[in-house]
Amino acid sequence: MRLLFPLLLAAILVVATTGSEEEFLNQIHALQPRYGGGGTPVQGLSCLSWRLSVEAHNIIDWKTVPQACKDYVGHYMLGHQYRKDSEAVVDEALVYAQSLQLGGDGKDLWVFDIDETTLSNLPYYAKHGFGVEPYNSTLFNLWVDDGKAPALPESLKLYGKLLSLGLKVVFITGRPESQRNVTTKNLHKAGYHTWEKLILKESSYTGYTAVAYKSSERKMLEKDGYRIAGNIGDQWSDILGTYVGNRTFKLPDPMYYIS
Ligand SMILES: *[C@@H]1O[C@H](CO)[C@@H](O)[C@H](O)[C@H]1NC(C)=O
Ligand SMILES: *[C@@H]1O[C@H](CO)[C@@H](O)[C@H](O)[C@H]1NC(C)=O
Ligand SMILES: *[C@@H]1O[C@H](CO)[C@@H](O)[C@H](O)[C@H]1NC(C)=O
Ligand SMILES: [Mg+2]
Repeated sequence: MRLLFPLLLAAILVVATTGSEEEFLNQIHALQPRYGGGGTPVQGLSCLSWRLSVEAHNIIDWKTVPQACKDYVGHYMLGHQYRKDSEAVVDEALVYAQSLQLGGDGKDLWVFDIDETTLSNLPYYAKHGFGVEPYNSTLFNLWVDDGKAPALPESLKLYGKLLSLGLKVVFITGRPESQRNVTTKNLHKAGYHTWEKLILKESSYTGYTAVAYKSSERKMLEKDGYRIAGNIGDQWSDILGTYVGNRTFKLPDPMYYIS
């Protein structure tokens, strides 16, 4: 297994760098996840326990994935489990959405975060250690500016069904206003064809946490008469704070933490 992982990863990276996003997503199933966290302890925790603690927001404010969990997180992200966990989230969101009595005035909203929610930066993180390497904004922005991030397939499915139920979609992202055009293009390319608003982080929010910025933007939506029925993101900062919406849904993301 130790030898196989780098080989399979190398194969996937070739696809990721030379092929289309569709090919990349098809290849995501090629790796088998390592159940039990690969048996690698992190200060007494298995990597699986570390990931569960991260997802449950018991471990917070962490900077990078522990080096010992790089293989584990890589297998998780590229294997079946990330897909299955994302699907479980989306399935619950859909059951809830289908139960809603909408106002019929076009003011019922669903808020989506973008990175690791609407779009997937997995091709980037697969090349950069699955969160083991410290965040490098220069390199990450080059990737974003390419506009080639694929959709997270489960979120794209949720998006389509929410629209057909009559909900409006608003994207609230920590991406800066300067990335509006490339983000718009990328969303279209990935299959997101319509939305009520695309809210990017204006420079006036510099120094604000994601929790503060997103709460403030959601408050303005509610002030404009919108009702936030649902809210989905991969970070707790997408769904904590104020005006979070009647229900929130947390997608998995063991690669990075944003407060
Ligand atoms: C980010 O990556 C670039 C290109 O590899 C490198 O020159 C730069 O030093 C990195 N920045 C940080 C903060 O590591
Ligand atoms: C973004 O797109 C709009 C309309 O397509 C264009 O007018 C504007 O110059 C673009 N902005 C940047 C920063 O490229
Ligand atoms: C959200 O919850 C409030 C208070 O319980 C309720 O009045 C409202 O109808 C709910 N909105 C939606 C969109 O479900
Ligand atoms: Mg995100």
